[in-house]
Amino acid sequence: MPSADPGAEADPAIQPRNIHFGFDSELPVNWHSGNPAISHFYDALSLTFPEGERFFIDSVRHFADRITDPELRRDVQAFCAQEAIHSREHRSYNHLLTTHGIPVGGVERFIAKALRISQHWIPAKSQLAATCAYEHYTALFAEAILGDSRVMAGAHPLYRDLWRWHAMEEEEHKAVAFNVYQTVCPGVAGYLRRVLLMSLATFDFLITIPLLQAWLMAKGGEFWNMRSWAHACYYLWISPGIWRHVMLGVFAYLAPGFHPATRPVKPEVLAWRLHYRATANRPPRMTPTLFGE
Ligand SMILES: [Fe+2]
Ligand SMILES: [Fe+2]
Repeated sequence: MPSADPGAEADPAIQPRNIHFGFDSELPVNWHSGNPAISHFYDALSLTFPEGERFFIDSVRHFADRITDPELRRDVQAFCAQEAIHSREHRSYNHLLTTHGIPVGGVERFIAKALRISQHWIPAKSQLAATCAYEHYTALFAEAILGDSRVMAGAHPLYRDLWRWHAMEEEEHKAVAFNVYQTVCPGVAGYLRRVLLMSLATFDFLITIPLLQAWLMAKGGEFWNMRSWAHACYYLWISPGIWRHVMLGVFAYLAPGFHPATRPVKPEVLAWRLHYRATANRPPRMTPTLFGE
């Protein structure tokens, strides 16, 4: 891990890094620790990203003309650019699952349809509140991925770099949707709406991700691999416990005075921020050399 620079915290810029990871069929299916259940946990998250991040962009852009603060306008542009690139890379990531014999096109189309129906029926302010809730989740995942080196230990270098890159950008833009939301939905009504949408998002998250993970395990012929499941449960809930970290972090969101920017940033995360600022668009495979991994 690189050394932390206190100056990095003073630089709030959101920097889209247009990285093409170049997923190819040579990459292993069980890319994390050789364990299908852990790999498919991340794959399940990835399945939701291409359409989910498009939903986030739409929900924020909907209120673009209500934002007068020039800095927030710039942040929104950078937010949209980052999420669009994430969406593109995760589409390639997901396509590789199909190449590896797990056809995910139907799942992606189902998610796209569900989100389009939501966009038709759910009020725009609630869509934005949902985005804020999911952005809190992605920020918590980012905190776990960047703040604990055990989380990506055992991962294939390309996947490790992809998840760290995505985590870094989620950490950078974690307050953008929330700032837009506070502009258009202030006060008690805004608070109640965001708490309600966080409850629904939590319900969705806790159902959708394990279901997708189980579906991927079944399609990959690993559903009854109890050893893999047991190892994954230990990894997800005990050590390093990424699910545990995320679920415990959700409670802070329920405080009336919550703001994403006030959450303390771990020194390890600041160190990663400095590293990414210094290596903006270098090929991701260079990072192992820099980190001595
Ligand atoms: Fe993203
Ligand atoms: Fe995001």
